[in-house]
Amino acid sequence: MKCLTFKRLAIALAAILALALGKPAFADPIIIKFSHVVSPDAPKGKAALLFKQLAEKYTNGKVTVEVYPNSSLYKDKEELEALQLGSVQLLAPSISKFGPLGVKEFDVFDLPFLMTDDTHARQMMASPMMAELNKKLEDKGVEPLAYWDNGAHVYTANVPLIMPDDFRGLKMRIQGSKVLDAVARELGAIPQIIAFGELYQALQTGVADGEDNVPSNIWTQKLYDVQKYLTVSHHGRLTYSLITNKKFWDSLPADVRQGLDRAVAESTTFFDDTAAKDNVDALEQIKASGKVQVHVQTETEKQAWIAKLMPVHREMQSRFGKDFIDKIYKASGFVPPQS
Ligand code: LMR
Repeated sequence: MKCLTFKRLAIALAAILALALGKPAFADPIIIKFSHVVSPDAPKGKAALLFKQLAEKYTNGKVTVEVYPNSSLYKDKEELEALQLGSVQLLAPSISKFGPLGVKEFDVFDLPFLMTDDTHARQMMASPMMAELNKKLEDKGVEPLAYWDNGAHVYTANVPLIMPDDFRGLKMRIQGSKVLDAVARELGAIPQIIAFGELYQALQTGVADGEDNVPSNIWTQKLYDVQKYLTVSHHGRLTYSLITNKKFWDSLPADVRQGLDRAVAESTTFFDDTAAKDNVDALEQIKASGKVQVHVQTETEKQAWIAKLMPVHREMQSRFGKDFIDKIYKASGFVPPQS
């Protein structure tokens, strides 16, 4: 009897204490597993850690976020399957990897030279067209919470890539989108889909001769150790979507959702402020390493690349429809050269 009274008292005290700390009495925290494939030092890695901190703070500890960097939980394709199955709650994959979800439209953003600078990329991601595409993801059980633009791609390889012909016969790692496959083929290269977590080894062992990425990834994954040349070509973008399992997100209590929405918004601002700067710093660090010869594409070379790759834009009209591509051109500000 005495023991029972003591137990009741302890429970009441714990509840008062929890209330005082703003935490729910005895409820287990909601676990959000956030899996990603980059280094904790890359912009996405840093934003994921900030999201954890903010989400736990703004939900008063009702949520615990576990961040798994560097493909330590899932690799590229597995993580999308895991999200749909509900084994992981948050990802921020490159939208060039959305094909396996059964949403082919996101591949359109890989059309070469579609978005050449940060302004055009952000203009595109903020455009009303994205609502149409978001709906397609929602139909697959995936809820897009934000878009994080990580900057312009550069090419790396074990040979210099100055003119389009330099790609001939090279095994080029691609992320997976059908447009990137067509780009590699148009250049006369052999496209290889390789998970990001296997990229270093693939380049080291010659499974691939080259790849394209943003400087912050090339730096934080040490790809400059296993590549000899880098061309600043800015032919494409690396855009992420912060995505969750729709059913899971919809099931969250309103106050938790509010806290998480705030954490998403602030992490997005942080990401936008970090990505461009990290790419500039990374390119300087790569140059300073002395391991890679860096070439900045001239305007003449760029025009030669565009001329070589415009057939991919035309070929993709049959995949996406001309109307859709025209709408994307308009939203992104891309003006196709007169042929
Ligand atoms: C890649 O696969 O090259 C990138 O998408 C990796 C990433 O998430 O930045």
